[in-house]
Amino acid sequence: MKKLIDQISLVVSEGFEKAGYDPSLGRVVVSNRPDLCQYQCNGAMAGAKQYRKAPFMIAQAVVDAIGQHPMFAKLEMVRPGYINMDLHPDYLAQLLSQLEADPLRGVEQEEKPLTIIVDYGGPNVAKPLHVGHLRSAVIGESIKRICRFMGNKVIGDVHLGDWGLQMGQIITELRQRQPDLPYFDPDFQGEYPVQPPFSISDLEEIYPAASARCKVDAEYKKLAQNATSELQSGRRGYRALWKHIVNVSVSDLKANYKKLDVDFDLWYGESDCQAYIPAMVEEMKDKGYAYLSDGALVVDVQEEEDAREVPPCLILKSDGAAQYETTDLATIIQRQQDFQPDRMIYLTDKRQELHFVRVFRCAYKTGLVDKDKCSLEFIGFGTMNGKDGKPYKTRDGGVLRLEKLIGEVKDTVYQKVMSNGTISEEEGQEIARKVSVAAIKYGDLSNQPYKDYIFDLDKFAAFEGNTGPYIMYTMVRIKSILAKYAAAHPEAETGAILPSRSESETGLALTLCRFNEAVYEAYEQKAPNRLCRYIYDLTGALNQFYVEHNIMKESDPVRQAGFIALIKLVLHVLETAIDLLGFSAPDRM
Ligand code: ARG
Repeated sequence: MKKLIDQISLVVSEGFEKAGYDPSLGRVVVSNRPDLCQYQCNGAMAGAKQYRKAPFMIAQAVVDAIGQHPMFAKLEMVRPGYINMDLHPDYLAQLLSQLEADPLRGVEQEEKPLTIIVDYGGPNVAKPLHVGHLRSAVIGESIKRICRFMGNKVIGDVHLGDWGLQMGQIITELRQRQPDLPYFDPDFQGEYPVQPPFSISDLEEIYPAASARCKVDAEYKKLAQNATSELQSGRRGYRALWKHIVNVSVSDLKANYKKLDVDFDLWYGESDCQAYIPAMVEEMKDKGYAYLSDGALVVDVQEEEDAREVPPCLILKSDGAAQYETTDLATIIQRQQDFQPDRMIYLTDKRQELHFVRVFRCAYKTGLVDKDKCSLEFIGFGTMNGKDGKPYKTRDGGVLRLEKLIGEVKDTVYQKVMSNGTISEEEGQEIARKVSVAAIKYGDLSNQPYKDYIFDLDKFAAFEGNTGPYIMYTMVRIKSILAKYAAAHPEAETGAILPSRSESETGLALTLCRFNEAVYEAYEQKAPNRLCRYIYDLTGALNQFYVEHNIMKESDPVRQAGFIALIKLVLHVLETAIDLLGFSAPDRM
């Protein structure tokens, strides 16, 4: 379905044309005086100069040219030259039935679906997820779902940090603790054990210990660096040990992302692109893009228009080691070979912006990516802060683990859910899980990605206000009205949505028809916050409706059935909208 505003504009533009004026003057906007009309067109005012005519004459001619049109209940010229319109209730009711019948709720998918890779999450192996990983997962998941809803083929890749120094550090520490493991015996020829020699909790203790020791013990640090480079150049025992570290870590990461309803199609990591690096480096050298600077291999990416200095893209360090840039560039090659994507969207903290500017420029400049065929896009998000306005920390100032944060929100929600007294513990847990995910995600997504925001548990978990739980509550309330109605009218089938007779019904209908607009904007601007605002508008319009109408007490059975059909559609649109944000609603709470 076209955007409602475009459908109206089309009719008005035709009116301009029929009356002999430029059809582009027929653009319609939502009225800024909702007390006077729903939509307006100011084109006659704009055209007055061009046609040397009083605007009201043009406007009147257009209104006459359109004549009686089924779209409008009111179409009138208002001096000095506006065209004011109200949609016809029959027309609106018909749009609503179309929305109800359409699983996409009026969204028209891309005519030519694109292949899009969304690179998000970005956790590092052996390091537990902390609050700093939240936003990439939450925003990325939503962007992925929005792009997919628009009909594209979308691949979410977690892009694990699985190849850096932390690997060598863990190997070194393990070697100190269990030197007799076969992984450290260079002469070992047999099969390595299938079971890992550590658990996730061991790893979570080993890694910080190793990393701390590297900071104070230069010799140990050297060992860790050597272990890293031996691992990278393929030492058999280290590779086997590394596989264990990755596997143990990945199962833990999967479990944590699952708690947030975040899931990835690909669990690739920095290690997976290693095979592409040597040829890439050679080609960059051969084509003359890469040159040695202080021993390091670099590609210049400064552009004339740059107001600030953009340092060269580092391809290899002077010791020949691959860098963060190197793996991102090689991953681009890998993705192009595997998936031929039209777009790659990356999500990280905005502090990594310069990294991506350099990588993207380098990829375009060296011809890794043809700018006309594939766009590389970066979404940099702001920081999640505590109430003190500083990055969110534990009470004692440490880094808060994501698991802990999720648990705290869930406990808070659980207490509230159970306070109603009729819910079993098991159901309470499941409800609290869903509602807490909504609290966290909506709290995050309702902000523009680029901006910092303050994580306020009391506010985010509140059951009223502009919060995730409030949306859940709204949906649960609709479900309960539907259930009550069904119980009172066991034979009743869902009636048709009727032409609105009240202001609040019309308001609700108009808001429902604007769902696709919100999706298009969220998609085009990569801005899930646009959908959050829509949800807020829709729940607001629903509340107005509740104020004006008591569905269960409605005496006219036909009208009552119409109300039921209307709020059912509200529920369906809300379900679709929150699914795009990455959460779902319980049946009661
Ligand atoms: N692992 C990285 C980090 O912790 C984030 C990875 C983001 N994605 C990428 N392709 N560089 O900072």
